[in-house]
Amino acid sequence: MTESPVAGRAGPLSADIETELAARAAQARQWAYAPYSHYRVGAALLTASGRIYDGVNVENAAFGDTICAERTAAVKAVSEGERDFVAIAVASATAGMPCGSCRQVLSEFGLEARVLIVDDNGGIVSRSTVRELLPSPFGPKQLP
Ligand code: THU
Repeated sequence: MTESPVAGRAGPLSADIETELAARAAQARQWAYAPYSHYRVGAALLTASGRIYDGVNVENAAFGDTICAERTAAVKAVSEGERDFVAIAVASATAGMPCGSCRQVLSEFGLEARVLIVDDNGGIVSRSTVRELLPSPFGPKQLP
């Protein structure tokens, strides 16, 4: 976790912050534990406090117990008291999109959070929001 200046939630991310998040996600890939798929994913999650939490996919010999990079970053952030996600960058060799489970988990802490998809070279290949990626989320309003 590191500190980063951030210009609030509203409005677009600054180019500097986008670049920083993309770089952090790409760098984090080195820590991926992916001996089974060999598909290394890194994430960098910016919270409203201005902190950046990185995360990687952590696979397991019991394959179903694998956790994705995005959820690793989310769990790290929430376990440090963060509940307001501003943006997340996700880096992989194929610039893959977040899976459905990660979209759902991210939606709990920021439907408007920006999602940056990053390629092998650290370049941003797409920009969206969690709401765009999960248009009909299951949320607290569905609970009685
Ligand atoms: N993976 C992620 O880390 N994030 C995603 O959103 C999709 C998939 C990981 C899980 C597994 O370790 C590998 O990619 C192949 O599915």
